[in-house]
Amino acid sequence: MDDRAGSVRREPRRILIAGGAGFVGSHLAARLVAEGHEVICLDNLQTGRLSNLAPLMSESRFSFVRHDIVQPVAIEGPLDEIWNLACAASPPQYQLDPLHTFRTCVNGSLNLLELAREKQARIFQASTSEVYGDPDVSLQAESYRGSVNTWGPRACYDEGKRSAETLFFEYERLGVEVRVARIFNTYGPRMSPEDGRVVSNFVRQALMGEALTIHGEGQQTRSFCYVDDLVEGLLRLMRSDARGPVNLGNPGEFTVRELADMVLAQTGSDSPLLHKPMPQDDPRQRRPDLGRAKRELGWEPRIPLAKGLAMTIAHFREELAGRDRPVSVVRAG
Ligand SMILES: NC(=O)c1ccc[n+]([C@@H]2O[C@H](COP(=O)([O-])OP(=O)(O)OC[C@H]3O[C@@H](n4cnc5c(N)ncnc54)[C@H](O)[C@@H]3O)[C@@H](O)[C@H]2O)c1
Repeated sequence: MDDRAGSVRREPRRILIAGGAGFVGSHLAARLVAEGHEVICLDNLQTGRLSNLAPLMSESRFSFVRHDIVQPVAIEGPLDEIWNLACAASPPQYQLDPLHTFRTCVNGSLNLLELAREKQARIFQASTSEVYGDPDVSLQAESYRGSVNTWGPRACYDEGKRSAETLFFEYERLGVEVRVARIFNTYGPRMSPEDGRVVSNFVRQALMGEALTIHGEGQQTRSFCYVDDLVEGLLRLMRSDARGPVNLGNPGEFTVRELADMVLAQTGSDSPLLHKPMPQDDPRQRRPDLGRAKRELGWEPRIPLAKGLAMTIAHFREELAGRDRPVSVVRAG
């Protein structure tokens, strides 16, 4: 990774983060406040948690507004940057109300893009590797157009995010400065233990002494990016001149079964594995081609899965213990 982060747009800025109470948004907010910027976090708390923002609540440069971006967004005063991270990211969460998920992606993006146009602010969209669907190429570059089912249970999110990209690039043609990251599976502290994603599921289940649920034989692959690496990539992208979508993630490829084994080894848990049927349209493989991110942002992830997992497990252990429930830690060393 080279040294160009923050070489431009460093002066204190007034920044809106939609979805700032979520997992990634709260890490981004903390980083931007620490850099001296004024941050307004806007969130409907659908999957986000105010506890994620607890360290920021006493900061004079930080404020929180409870609002759903499906409704028009009005913010008083100037804005330099708008970050759109608002959208449930975990399949069980975004499938609870598919129409709201789709509206969040489409109406929500439109509302924020209109705000960006009004304020002449640069706007970022958290797009996703899900725009590639169940890919039939083993390394997904930004030029790959994807293989998405338009009417399956994941479509409200996948097609919502694809539509959002269309909106962002149409507004770019109207003169709005947009930046779009296609984020691959990211994990770390502050993921909600109950949100249903594979890393949070396995860690919570292992620590609680419950069976780890694996879909199929667990031979599907995923690549896992630690949240600090991702946030660094997001900031570099927002401060860059990169046009078009940019993949951000970690190229290390692991089967879900390998992940389960690592979680069991690191937690010292003797939880069994519980195999369940594969969900419909579950992607068989995921691995980012990071060529653009390396070339244009000088960015690549630094934190290997074993290290990131250890930091995540430590955080989950603390959070679950704080809930006054038994936390199974059975084997020492
Ligand atoms: N974490 C990942 O692996 C990953 C991968 C690809 C893309 N992304 C994208 O990054 C963004 C952040 O993901 P995350 O992992 O932090 O998820 P998250 O669920 O923890 O955070 C999403 C936040 O958006 C808020 N939100 C949802 N709908 C909203 C609405 N209509 N109005 C206002 N707030 C709303 C939620 O309350 C939550 O705080 C999402 O847009 C997601 O699609 C994440």
